[in-house]
Amino acid sequence: MQDDTTEIEDIGSNPAPRGTIGELIEARLSRRGLLGTGAAAALAAALPTAAPAQDSGNTPNGGPSSLTFPELRHQLAQRDAVAEGHEIQVLIRWGDPILPDAPEFDPQHQTAEAQARQFGYNNDYLDFFPLPQGSRHPDRGLLVVNHEYTNTNLMFPGLGTGREARARITAEHGAIERAAHGLSVVEVRRENGRWSHSRDGRLNRRITLETPMRISGPAAGHARLRTEEDPTGTRVRGTLNNCAGGNTPWGTVLTCEENFNLYFGGAAAEAGPQAEAYRRYGILKEPVYGWGRFEPRFDLDATPNEPNRFGWVVEFDPYDPESVPVKRTALGRFKHEGCTHAVCPDGRVAFYSGDDERFDYLYKFVTARPWNPRDRAANRDLLDEGTLHVAKFEADGTLRWLPLVQGGGPLTPENGFHTQGDVVIEARRAADLLGATPMDRPEDVETNPVNGRVYVMLTNNSSRKPEQVNPANPRPANIHGHVVEIIPPGAGTARVDHAAEVARWGIFIAGGKPGIDPGAQYHRAISNEGWLSCPDNCAFDSKGRIWIATDGAPITSGVADGLYAADTAGPGRALTRLFYQAPSGAEVCGPKFTPDDRTVFLAIQHPGEDAGSTFEQPSTRWPDFREGAPPRPSVIAIVRKDGGAIG
Ligand code: FEO
Ligand code: CA
Ligand code: CA
Ligand code: CA
Repeated sequence: MQDDTTEIEDIGSNPAPRGTIGELIEARLSRRGLLGTGAAAALAAALPTAAPAQDSGNTPNGGPSSLTFPELRHQLAQRDAVAEGHEIQVLIRWGDPILPDAPEFDPQHQTAEAQARQFGYNNDYLDFFPLPQGSRHPDRGLLVVNHEYTNTNLMFPGLGTGREARARITAEHGAIERAAHGLSVVEVRRENGRWSHSRDGRLNRRITLETPMRISGPAAGHARLRTEEDPTGTRVRGTLNNCAGGNTPWGTVLTCEENFNLYFGGAAAEAGPQAEAYRRYGILKEPVYGWGRFEPRFDLDATPNEPNRFGWVVEFDPYDPESVPVKRTALGRFKHEGCTHAVCPDGRVAFYSGDDERFDYLYKFVTARPWNPRDRAANRDLLDEGTLHVAKFEADGTLRWLPLVQGGGPLTPENGFHTQGDVVIEARRAADLLGATPMDRPEDVETNPVNGRVYVMLTNNSSRKPEQVNPANPRPANIHGHVVEIIPPGAGTARVDHAAEVARWGIFIAGGKPGIDPGAQYHRAISNEGWLSCPDNCAFDSKGRIWIATDGAPITSGVADGLYAADTAGPGRALTRLFYQAPSGAEVCGPKFTPDDRTVFLAIQHPGEDAGSTFEQPSTRWPDFREGAPPRPSVIAIVRKDGGAIG
């Protein structure tokens, strides 16, 4: 049962028990169903089709929370729902045209050319950059969105369910899928309380697997980054599996490459000179995506170094549609879930990033130099110099940030680390040698703007055995996940030292149903609706309250993924409340508030990702509910009907 929360995107590769790739893919595809092939129609029939009581499914508030919305009831449904008094507006959907001459969405006859000019698939990270640049305008801005991966079975007619669909793709399907990856930048605005996107915004942009990019930092030009196509090791086409993300104080985007391993495969995974390094990143002989049959760069035997050119944090300027994105190798190569900045008292900037894999680590990069608030261009290469650290959590509540610096401790030539380039390319192995703490899949990490504390979403880890628990990951078979709270020196004052090598830590909440799931931990007044499972993304409103989005709530618990809010201080601390419930099969990403807190944007990813779901018979047709049309990953805007601040 635990394995129904396994995602193909999160196959463990730090030595720990795990199944075959086939079992893991099946587990992912059935994570919400425990159902056989063809069962999606049955699931759809069992789910309420009408809007599930958007205004009558609420419960009165109990407990001392500062949050005033009436709590939503837990439910599984084809449609989504939000707390009473709020409105869901669908802002942009997979396939919506966003570049000049983009054709209208036609899922029966999709082409790669069309897709490259339309909003991509599986929106995850989203951000709002006010327009004009440098303002804090709450009504007009650039929506920046990652397109993490593709659900082949739900995108194309006639291919069947997940695993068989991926085996049946043609070269054209693969090209469409690659065009559906990457990012979208779209101008959006709010007028008379309604959000809309501009299909011909001057700054609109699509970034795909064909977009030219630069590689900088300690691994740029490294022999292991060179290929026949790029003998310099400094240029690469595209970005892959962009999950969460972040931004910088100077107004650029950080988009994070997560499960890049799934796309590469070949015999070299088991026998070649890099086999051990591939293994540590979960690159297997049989890739999950079949693109290597048509594109040699995804075939390890043809292009063994190509996977070393993915797994990075990529920076670009959203305000310049011509800007060349840069892979910043100083931040290390791993499955970056996201990347969140925090400014230190001396002006240096810390970037927190989780490596989302069972038993992998939490990292922090600190720039060598302070950022310059007066000269945007002066910050252009700030991310190329600094110190990468990995977290070690101790039982007495101490957190030590261990520097990943070539020559330090075991990071020596004897262990294969001749340069800092070697260290960042194999950041995971370097962190293994330093004795970092193996975590329960670190997803989003965010800093609370009010109290300066840092919150780490640990989504789950069903593989952890009783003998493998540690103080920061105390539950074996942790199917519901937890949230760790880090308290850097100076937290609660105006001078929070995010660069310090020592901090304090504790557990903020632990998921699952209180009284049912051992170790579930919340405020004692938690309601029957407020408990959550599998925290993934998070954001803070300007009052410092945490908003947690979930991914992977087991269907057997009768709970959909959703968005929950809680105070982080005061009498309502850790009293989570359900605000939004996702449609069947979907996880909730983002979230992102406008600067005035009057809108929260959410990216609703993989609606209909249920066992047996197909293009023809999906478990939901959210958000269009048009007969014959597939579900569409979409970004929604939630506003209060009276126009007030959310929460
Ligand atoms: Fe793409 Fe770790 O979620
Ligand atoms: Ca995630
Ligand atoms: Ca976030
Ligand atoms: Ca996730």
